[in-house]
Amino acid sequence: MAKKKAEGYLSGREARRIAKENRRITNAFEKQRKRKNVPESEYLTQMADPNNAVEFDNLHTYFYTDAGVVKSVDGVSFEVPIGKTVGVVGESGCGKSVTSLSLMQLLQRPQGQVVEGAIRLNMGDKAYDVTKMPNEQMQKIRGNYVSMIFQEPMTSLNPVFRIGEQVDEVIALHHGEGKTKEDIKNRTIELLEMVGIANSQGVYQMFPHELSGGMRQRVCIAMALACSPKVIIADEPTTALDVTIQAQVLDLLRNLKNKINSSIMFITHDLGVIAEMADYVVVMYAGRVVEKGTVHEIFSNPAHPYTIGLMASKPVVGKKIDKLYSIPGKVPNPIDMPNYCYFKDRCEMCVPGCEGEYPCKVQLSPTHFVSCYRYYDNKNQGGEG
Ligand SMILES: Nc1ncnc2c1ncn2[C@@H]1O[C@H](COP(=O)(O)OP(=O)(O)O)[C@@H](O)[C@H]1O
Ligand SMILES: [Mg+2]
Repeated sequence: MAKKKAEGYLSGREARRIAKENRRITNAFEKQRKRKNVPESEYLTQMADPNNAVEFDNLHTYFYTDAGVVKSVDGVSFEVPIGKTVGVVGESGCGKSVTSLSLMQLLQRPQGQVVEGAIRLNMGDKAYDVTKMPNEQMQKIRGNYVSMIFQEPMTSLNPVFRIGEQVDEVIALHHGEGKTKEDIKNRTIELLEMVGIANSQGVYQMFPHELSGGMRQRVCIAMALACSPKVIIADEPTTALDVTIQAQVLDLLRNLKNKINSSIMFITHDLGVIAEMADYVVVMYAGRVVEKGTVHEIFSNPAHPYTIGLMASKPVVGKKIDKLYSIPGKVPNPIDMPNYCYFKDRCEMCVPGCEGEYPCKVQLSPTHFVSCYRYYDNKNQGGEG
């Protein structure tokens, strides 16, 4: 193997070798997924618990880049119970979006691939493993069973088409059979009203640029809900909005969820939003889940040093301090992860044992789990990390 010239730089020869090897691996994945008429038995599976809408089980999603393999999601397991909201938190780049894009099969192809693990989707009478589903089948699931609301509403809408046409298209694509143009338009108007757009007839005729950010996000929510999906992924849906609009959009999501009884996977880096929205919280760090529990457990009794650090770094109303806490150090390089706890180099609470291999999952309560050596001695440990 050619020697690296300097930290982070590759020789031309080395880069070509990596690119060739990547192509070989990703072509094999793509070929598998492009097959036609794949029998259902190939991706049929069983939920570990039928009360869950989605189960991520030891998910590994990698990007085969010319600089090396980026292990964006490296063994993530958590579940989204039916009718509940699960908040996924963690700093930028920890793999939140990649986890949700893996469920939608919307990863950047061919570089992005699920290489290991399962994502079980509860279809009611049966369950599918999304990671094994060919493109053909996935298209029927996307939008109908799982749909997604993105961070930036302007980039999710097409600037050259009117709002009405864009929502109509979604309905026609998924539920268009036997419907006239008029029926579809009526449904669009109904959806626009449901997401709190007062002048729905007017907005139907408008272009995206004529709407404010909050209105655009409402339109995106209407599109995501058009087919009453069982699972809604909201990936930082309010990050691009200002705070008052953010509060309105959160209210809207909460009300709609109760109306259609869906499950929500709510991705954010904002702990305040989590506290308001979620029933359960999953804390991610460097592509892994470091802690999960009910919203009460995570907020009143955070166990992982990273979660404790996150809690300490959020401002508290009425408490006067000179400087907010910030977690020292930086996230490890996803191309070259350490073989010990990924948080160890930044951790201020290390105990003897931390230099060992990546800590496994320790159970603190029926719903509270943490991957940390600090809890090894007094609790029963088990399961994967
Ligand atoms: N298309 C891509 N190609 C290469 N690396 C990617 C790609 N998309 C995401 N990543 C990497 O995966 C990691 C997780 O990204 P992401 O899930 O988007 O983070 P976030 O938690 O902020 O949503 C990051 O290190 C990011 O650089
Ligand atoms: Mg993201």
